[in-house]
Amino acid sequence: MELIDVYYAYPGSVWALKGVNLRLEKGKKVAILGPNGAGKSTLLFHFIGLLRPKKGTVYYEGSKVEYTRAYLKTLRQKVGLVFQDPDAQMFAGSVFQEVSFGPLNLGLQEDEARNRVLKALEVMGIDDLKYRPVHFLSYGQKKKVAIASVLAMNPDALVFDEPTAYLDPRSSAELVEIMEKLYRLGKQIVISTHDVDLAFSFADWIVVMKDGRVLAQGSPVEIFTDKDIISESGLEMPLIVKISTLLKKKGLLKGAFPRDLKQLASMLENDGGGLTWQKGS
Ligand SMILES: Nc1ncnc2c1ncn2[C@@H]1O[C@H](COP(=O)(O)OP(=O)(O)OP(=O)(O)O)[C@@H](O)[C@H]1O
Ligand SMILES: [Mg+2]
Repeated sequence: MELIDVYYAYPGSVWALKGVNLRLEKGKKVAILGPNGAGKSTLLFHFIGLLRPKKGTVYYEGSKVEYTRAYLKTLRQKVGLVFQDPDAQMFAGSVFQEVSFGPLNLGLQEDEARNRVLKALEVMGIDDLKYRPVHFLSYGQKKKVAIASVLAMNPDALVFDEPTAYLDPRSSAELVEIMEKLYRLGKQIVISTHDVDLAFSFADWIVVMKDGRVLAQGSPVEIFTDKDIISESGLEMPLIVKISTLLKKKGLLKGAFPRDLKQLASMLENDGGGLTWQKGS
């Protein structure tokens, strides 16, 4: 996905995007990080052509996004957006009907659609909710149904707007595990968040947004060890970076930054010594 000099303003409102230049490569877990009102959701809506730039261009896999029905239908098959609020993408009826809606709309045979739905429910661990009306599900359950609906379209990329917002710690951890699993299954994953701890532990590539612009991008360590970026963006330093920096100063931790507390603990058990973090370890 690539955006070149993209500007967007909501009708009668101020500029929400002010010249965004961004290129997201395949194979990285990306976090779009920024405070409230930075333009994260507005940016994600451009990824699936839900909004059209007032100026500038969006490209997907090297070709210019067209705002025709046919093009957008194909694009949304390849790139699925999980909205922050699951109610925003729910229709009615049972969970099964809800998740079937997309595949049936693609014109798939009933058998094929059914298989996709069952697979998506299985991946999300919500087979038992199949016949429940979506209306009466809890927030966390609705979130899973919303993700299953996107998964049933079998997209190449999944974009999550604030995936862990309003989830309790256990559901958050579960959702992160699901996103990791989808990534291992070969899906591209992009999330938007203002949770610096989540961005640091989850993403391989961080895009920092502020006031409708991309302020910086880079690896999590590059971003969070750069004092200028931290102070300019108004973001907090992730807890793990704060602790690790302190331990490094005291000579108790060597080598690369741990990604999360679990990794830090195991590094400390190994004398804090020389362990380098490796992807997938
Ligand atoms: N429907 C809308 N109509 C008018 N202005 C809007 C609308 N949606 C967003 N905006 C404005 O656009 C700007 C960017 O908002 P956006 O929702 O993209 O930010 P965000 O980074 O997703 O914030 P949050 O973390 O609160 O979700 C803000 O100034 C916001 O007030
Ligand atoms: Mg938002």
